[in-house]
Amino acid sequence: MKDILEELERRRDVARLGGGQARIDAQHQRGKLTARERIDLFLDEGSFEEFDMFVEHRSTDFGMDKSRIAGDGVVTGWGTVNGRTVFVFAKDFTVFGGSLSEAHAEKIIKVQDMALKNRAPIIGIYDAGGARIQEGVAALGGYAEVFQRNVLASGVIPQISVIMGPCAGGDVYSPAMTDFIFMVRDTSYMFVTGPDVVKTVTNETVTSEELGGATVHTTRSSIADGAYDNDVDTLLQVRRLVDFLPQSNTSPIPEIECYQSVTDVDNSLDTLIPANANKPYDIKELIQKVADEGDFFEIQASFAKNIVCGFGRVEGSTVGFVANQPMVLAGVLDSDASRKAARFVRFCDCFNIPIVTFVDVPGFLPGTAQEYGGLIKHGAKLLFAYAEATVPKLTVITRKAFGGAYDVMASKHLRGDLNYAWPTAQIAVMGAKGAVEIIFRKDIADPEKIATYTKMYEDRFLSPFVAAERGYIDEVIMPHSTRRRLARGLKMLKNKDLSNPWKKHDNIPL
Ligand code: HXC
Repeated sequence: MKDILEELERRRDVARLGGGQARIDAQHQRGKLTARERIDLFLDEGSFEEFDMFVEHRSTDFGMDKSRIAGDGVVTGWGTVNGRTVFVFAKDFTVFGGSLSEAHAEKIIKVQDMALKNRAPIIGIYDAGGARIQEGVAALGGYAEVFQRNVLASGVIPQISVIMGPCAGGDVYSPAMTDFIFMVRDTSYMFVTGPDVVKTVTNETVTSEELGGATVHTTRSSIADGAYDNDVDTLLQVRRLVDFLPQSNTSPIPEIECYQSVTDVDNSLDTLIPANANKPYDIKELIQKVADEGDFFEIQASFAKNIVCGFGRVEGSTVGFVANQPMVLAGVLDSDASRKAARFVRFCDCFNIPIVTFVDVPGFLPGTAQEYGGLIKHGAKLLFAYAEATVPKLTVITRKAFGGAYDVMASKHLRGDLNYAWPTAQIAVMGAKGAVEIIFRKDIADPEKIATYTKMYEDRFLSPFVAAERGYIDEVIMPHSTRRRLARGLKMLKNKDLSNPWKKHDNIPL
């Protein structure tokens, strides 16, 4: 009996070594952890339950029958993050470069199915060279099985991808269909085809970092939602994100102890808006003063900075914040900002996370670059996302809410539940200068008349009261009471019951 037990331990030890000590050392020398080290760090200590440790590939081509390694390049299983169940898989770069074989795909599929059946988030950690080249179509079939499951799980359980090394070829599409992608600076990159293929096809010379490093994907392509300096920091930040998310679309939103009273007033908010309407201020200050203990997990912080999206909590319960950022392009809505916020709003709506929107927007960005780039459709994405969302929607207009952007930013007309405005709000078709130049075009050469008309327009329209007179604004509130008002509103809306007409699915302007 003792021998049998020892044999299990011996086999486990071999499996845990993956591709061997030399490859583990090489991994460490590159500043990367191994698949198992990553899982151990990510999950609560000692909570990992591994599946399929002894699975091997079945390939015989190219001498593969002589090269079988237990686990076949991916470590899978489940564990907990702060006590809540999550499923995980982590590609093991020390085994055939983490490449995907038929057997490797079956391991991932098993945890995907279990995560969906048991309604828990799934986290995939990538460090891999794409399809197992020796396997051909069996690997392609395996990828498609994984992709299909990503789609079926989308909107049912949170899916998160963490890129911690190469992620190329077939490996990129599964992350692309998950809810969030995080990368590690300098050691991770994602692309469909690598620098060699790029050189052959387009004759461009480019490094892996230039083609698909964390900087590219967090600032230009917007493929990644965040990047951190090393494996440890990245995994800890993803743990932080998981804490904000419900287990599934039918699970309650996580609630944690709240140590900051919601009845305290914050008088500093009364002077947040500068006297000069054209002067910027940092909208993140407002988010941090409304969120419990200023704890805010920002999504896509380095992309389309004219809009800010992320998670926080109010009275211990998760909310999604969306806010125009006057510090960048005066908070204007352009194609990138619209796409970024639309995706975030839809994520919140999928998972029943209430949305708090702070509005200070001068309109949509004019110009050929925007129009040729499809601003109409991109802007419509955000409009569509807010309009279809049935979660509690609370909106505070702090300053400008001009034109179509007023409508788009969770206005009353898009089923906003609570629409507040600060006394500094200016809700109008456009700013005074633009309005006067159009209405009084014949007087444009007379600065005195133009100044008088501008003042008239400002006095009549650039306030919250015209909208409040019509009930488009539920109440004009003191800035210092914003956290209390929102907390009470969120509580009142806890049992909100609203659904859209039955449909197979909508047809958002993609
Ligand atoms: C089998 C692979 C492999 C692969 C790497 N390895 N990629 N084995 N299939 N796809 C093995 C290597 O042979 C090597 O084995 C070990 O992994 C480490 O690889 P190195 O090249 O030594 O490492 P490095 O220099 O860090 O380069 C990593 C890499 C490179 C950039 C990922 O290996 C690479 O370019 N691999 C091929 C990428 C690729 O073209 N994949 C196919 C994509 S097509 P030893 O034994 O020496 O340690 C695809 C289509 C699917 O995925 C589409 C579905 C939609």
